[in-house]
Amino acid sequence: APDVDGAKIEAHLEEFARIAEDNGGNRAHGTAGYKASLDYVKAKLDAAGYTTRIHQFTSGGRTGFNLIADLPGRGDPNQVVMLGAHLDSVDEGPGINDNASGSAGVLEVALAYAASGAKGDKAIRFGWWGAEEDGLVGSKAYVNSLSAAEKAKVTAYLNFDMIGSPNPGYFVYNDDAKGGFITQAFQEGFAAERIESEGVGLRGRSDHASFMAAGIPSGGTATLSLAATMSQAQAQRWGGEAGQPFDPCYHKDCDTLDNISAAALDTHTDVAAYAAWKLTGVKAPVEP
Ligand code: PHE
Ligand code: ZN
Ligand code: ZN
Ligand code: ZN
Repeated sequence: APDVDGAKIEAHLEEFARIAEDNGGNRAHGTAGYKASLDYVKAKLDAAGYTTRIHQFTSGGRTGFNLIADLPGRGDPNQVVMLGAHLDSVDEGPGINDNASGSAGVLEVALAYAASGAKGDKAIRFGWWGAEEDGLVGSKAYVNSLSAAEKAKVTAYLNFDMIGSPNPGYFVYNDDAKGGFITQAFQEGFAAERIESEGVGLRGRSDHASFMAAGIPSGGTATLSLAATMSQAQAQRWGGEAGQPFDPCYHKDCDTLDNISAAALDTHTDVAAYAAWKLTGVKAPVEP
């Protein structure tokens, strides 16, 4: 897999921050800021050769939108590896770590995959979820919209939620027993970056839970655990601040561009790319 360019991920984050600023300070479900975020991602994917589709649902009396992107002609469409991130913020702020970080990282993996000409055994698909903050509503609606046959084609779902915390951890989800091979790919990816990752149980607190509930093997990476603060051992391992939160601006109006570790965001995105290339079975990737 290529080393995804951190500057390109940053550029997407800046766009999401500008979108929030222009739309009342957030990118929440049912708002203009959400729709503008979706339009931004969709335009990039369309220009890169993706076949995109907006999947509508309703939550709290408002129309919600997921964005689904397939890349034609790259691997068996009956075996699909899917990567996703929630694109909505809370009402309280712009949601740059939660979850412009995952949205930007997944977008840049998608763009790098298309540009590289990578062709694996399996097809690749990407999803950006609406209304995660209302209770995983968008991802649940998407999974429920799939027929049994379509669900069976999804061989893995990889989730990215909060991958740029300012006091970052390097966590790999271990919620899903079926997702062991995904966890392994992420561990390998972090090892290639010379980082010792740690397994974390997230009790289904993000969109991977929607896929797990349908029996689809799932995993993900995150820069935080459900613990309030970073432990001494973690701080030593990762060079962080013991006793401090991973993200002090979680669900607050200070979740801005200043609330990001650019290095952690780049690393988690590189590891996402590693897993995407590996799990789709790209044998000889062409570097972008
Ligand atoms: N999904 C939660 C939120 O968006 C937080 C979370 C992030 C949980 C990452 C697990 C993993 O608020
Ligand atoms: Zn990189
Ligand atoms: Zn959140
Ligand atoms: Zn989140």
